[in-house]
Amino acid sequence: MKTIIEPFRIKMTESIKLNTEEERVELLKKANNNVFLLDAEDVLIDLLTDSGTGAMSAEQWAALMLGDESYAGSKSWKKFEKTVKKITGKKYVLPTHQGRAAEAILAQTLLKPGHVIPNNSHFDTTRANIEYVGAKAVNLLYDDAYDLSLDKAFKGNLDLGKLKAMIEETGVENIPFGMITVTNNTGGGQPVSMENIKAVSEILKNNNIPFIIDCCRFAENAYFIKRNEDGYEDKSLLEIAQEMFSYCDGATMSAKKDGLANIGGFLVINDDKWHETFRNLLILREGFPTYGGLSGRDLETISVGLMEALEFDYQNYRHATMQYLGDSLEAKGIPYVKPVGGHAVFLDAKEFLPNISQLDFPGISLCNALYIVGGVRAVELGSVMFGHFDENDIEQPSPLELVRLAIPRRVYTQSHFDYLIEVIEEVWDKREELGGYKIIYQPNFLRHFTCHFEEK
Ligand code: F0G
Repeated sequence: MKTIIEPFRIKMTESIKLNTEEERVELLKKANNNVFLLDAEDVLIDLLTDSGTGAMSAEQWAALMLGDESYAGSKSWKKFEKTVKKITGKKYVLPTHQGRAAEAILAQTLLKPGHVIPNNSHFDTTRANIEYVGAKAVNLLYDDAYDLSLDKAFKGNLDLGKLKAMIEETGVENIPFGMITVTNNTGGGQPVSMENIKAVSEILKNNNIPFIIDCCRFAENAYFIKRNEDGYEDKSLLEIAQEMFSYCDGATMSAKKDGLANIGGFLVINDDKWHETFRNLLILREGFPTYGGLSGRDLETISVGLMEALEFDYQNYRHATMQYLGDSLEAKGIPYVKPVGGHAVFLDAKEFLPNISQLDFPGISLCNALYIVGGVRAVELGSVMFGHFDENDIEQPSPLELVRLAIPRRVYTQSHFDYLIEVIEEVWDKREELGGYKIIYQPNFLRHFTCHFEEK
């Protein structure tokens, strides 16, 4: 079989300012050893996130010029609504400025203290929105999803036994809705099977609990279903996505991922009463219901992007880049989460740096080394992002210490990947020289974005 190539050619470029290792040592110090606090122009390969960092297609740029900026009922809104309805099949579409705004609408209208929301794994903004109103967010992955070296399809599946037990324990009245996140970002970008989505939907339906999908990476999830689940090999990604959405009552979306846009999101639902409540808050916080927090041109680019994300050749190429990276790590014995995810490859920092204890933040040590050695910016998904203080104010680590190399969509070429692999290998070769970090400043909410570190 021939090499899977990028199904596009490049029409516009953006330069990367090259810098040296000596300069990066100083730059990181100035950023208080937190890569979130670096200036983007000081980063060579920016893998901090796949969110809003993709390259738009010529069709998207062309669509942008069609943006109708009318306050109410614009042509761009009509296009957006039609596309979102075509994919999700839901009755109501509420545009939002990004995914977390959709989550906030759900949390602030439906949740109160005592409520518990199940999910395979909540993303940090979802968890934060739920906890902000005093409710609780629980993760219900199968135990083997925590076996990072286990190469098994659909490790994002939600544990049906745990879900049933949780409903029994918590009581239906305390679960205003249940969720599934596709793909499961915080657990390695692992997909969820159609069988699992369907089974979760049935359990929730039998208990009269509405089912919401966090669908940021729905097209990547559809690709995994097509490739790995029986009965889907001949279906289009659109058909698979439509079936996926047919099992839920609503969905939250960040169009910065599989919308292939730089900003945007939406909330879709079927329920008339919910719609009325959600719309009120939407108007208060985001904007009039036909634009949400978005301009007409954003609505245009998202409408095109959502359909492009469902093109098989695009997803096939995207997955090939992840696999190329994974295979190179495998060849060197570098520990990463298997199989590779849909939007990212996750290094296992606990295995990579076994000499650094979890509360000395091996993930931060690895991120900082990647930056110093090669100007690569990655993100820690470990005890800084997910650690917490228990009732005795003692810091508890996260179960996993991951470093995510999130791959922006349609941005980096194969030589960027080859360079990235060289950088990871160099850090691997000098891993025994790396030490831990301590936090010297932290805010009390979503601390990973702004905290300051010092080498221990
Ligand atoms: N849900 C998931 C699964 C996400 O990955 C994100 C964002 C959100 C919700 C929130 O969407 O950023 O548009 O408000 N993830 C980004 C990331 C930030 O880097 O993984 P948002």
